[in-house]
Amino acid sequence: VSIANWYAHFRLTKPPFDKSVEDHDLWLPKAKQDLTDQLLKSLTERRSALIVGEPGVGKTSLLRALRQRLATPEFRVTYCHNTTLGKRDFYRMLSTGLDLQPKATAAALFHAITTHVAELGAQRIHPVFVLDEAHMLRQDVLDHLHILLNYDWDRLPLLSIVLVGLPELAARLSLRCNRPLYTRLHLRLVLEPANPSGTAEYIRHRLTRAGASHPIFASDTLALLHEASLGN
Ligand SMILES: Nc1ncnc2c1ncn2[C@@H]1O[C@H](COP(=O)(O)OP(=O)(O)O)[C@@H](O)[C@H]1O
Ligand SMILES: [Mg+2]
Repeated sequence: VSIANWYAHFRLTKPPFDKSVEDHDLWLPKAKQDLTDQLLKSLTERRSALIVGEPGVGKTSLLRALRQRLATPEFRVTYCHNTTLGKRDFYRMLSTGLDLQPKATAAALFHAITTHVAELGAQRIHPVFVLDEAHMLRQDVLDHLHILLNYDWDRLPLLSIVLVGLPELAARLSLRCNRPLYTRLHLRLVLEPANPSGTAEYIRHRLTRAGASHPIFASDTLALLHEASLGN
C-alpha cells in the first residue's frame, strides 16, 4: 500500500507532517502566542532578544509567527540565515537586506548601515535583525553585533537584534568576552520541548490542517509518539 493510499484512506489532502508548514497552518497554542507577544513587546521597546532551544523544538517556526506580527510599517525586518559568514560578508548581507548599495570594505558597509539605520529612526521605522542558527556565528561577527547595538545612538538603540540558536549559544554568550552583548539581549527565552498533551495537540492540529475530519491516533499512540519524539 503506498503512502498516497493512506492519505486517501484518511481523507488527507496533503502530507500532514511535512517539514514545510504554511504560515497559516502554524500551530500557535497560547504558550507560543505569549512568547510572540513578549518578543513583539520587547522589539516595540527597541530591545533585543535571545531565543534558544534544542534542534526541532520550534525556534524557526516561532520566528515565522513573529514575522507575521512584524509585517507593519513600524518595523523593517532583515533575516540572516547564513551565519557562518565573516565580518565583511555579514555586513554585506545586512546591507543587501536593507536594500543598500554594495560597498567594498567592512568599514564602508558599516558606515552605510549605521547611516541608514539612523535615517530609519528619524522616520520612526525600527530595524530588526534576526539571526537564526546564531550558535554558528563567528566570534568576530559576535563582537560586531555588540558594536552595532552600542553604536552612538541616542538613549535607546535604533535597532534590535534577535539571536536564535541552540542552547550552546546561551552558554557562549555568557562567556566573559561576550558579556557586553549578552547584557544587551534583554529578553531571553528558552523554548522547551512539548509535554505529552502539547505533542498530542500538535499532532491533532497538523492532521486537522491536512484535512483529517476525525481523530486518527488513539491516546496511547499519541503518548508513544511523544516518548519517541522527546517532545521535539
Ligand atoms: N508551531 C509550529 N507549527 C507547526 N509546525 C511546527 C511548529 N513548530 C515546529 N514545527 C514543525 O517542526 C519542524 C521543526 O521546527 P523548527 O521551527 O524548524 O525547529 P528549530 O528551528 O527549533 O530547529 C518544522 O519544520 C515543522 O514541521
Ligand atoms: Mg531552526
